[in-house]
Amino acid sequence: MDARLLKMEAARAALAHVEAGMVIGIGTGSTAEEFIRLLAAAVADGMPVTGVPTSERTAIMCRELGIPLTTLDDVPHLAMTVDGADEVDTQLRLIKGGGGALLREKIVAAASDSMIVIADETKLVDRLGRFPLPIEVNRFGLAATQMAVLKASEKLGLSGRIVLRMAEGTPFLTDGGHYILDASFGLIHDPRALSDALHAIPGVVEHGMFLDFADVAIIAGKSGVKTIKP
Ligand code: A5P
Repeated sequence: MDARLLKMEAARAALAHVEAGMVIGIGTGSTAEEFIRLLAAAVADGMPVTGVPTSERTAIMCRELGIPLTTLDDVPHLAMTVDGADEVDTQLRLIKGGGGALLREKIVAAASDSMIVIADETKLVDRLGRFPLPIEVNRFGLAATQMAVLKASEKLGLSGRIVLRMAEGTPFLTDGGHYILDASFGLIHDPRALSDALHAIPGVVEHGMFLDFADVAIIAGKSGVKTIKP
């Protein structure tokens, strides 16, 4: 079974959690896009659901497919959010931000009663860190922030390349107008300590570790779909 089919299977299982009348957060990325297609079909069949998109990319797709949208300013508290992930560990800690939407994804997830993560089995890991950690940073003082991230990570015994994400020859810009540093630290032994250390750096806007966010992970693999709860 190819990866797209597995993503569809996970998305289909997540759709079963959506109830009529809900306002839900809608994630970003190729797995979330499978969910958006299925949700759009349900909406077209008459299911009343409204979404809060986690990126401009998701908002455009939802509008094109006819999913009604609102914002956290109008609805600050959501029943749930459905989103993909770059990595999911056995304690449901995540790395996200491969698509650059980590800040809005985290804000929307934090505003939601529950976060359902959908992924194919390649995303499941014993320990976070194989996927480079995206760190969203303010454009002002980039080099100083990059150095502060390096020093903070070294203090925690982590080392590795920290590179500015590029897109078509220029720095990648997030929806919030920030840069992303991709940090290849390798396996992260203490995600909480790294999270705290990164949050203490003024130029860091947010990082892509989602600790204590996910309530359920729906993982699709060759032998079926399994649900992981903490
Ligand atoms: C977007 O910024 C990310 O957090 C995505 O949720 C994550 O990269 C997963 O994307 P895929 O479903 O495309 O792998």
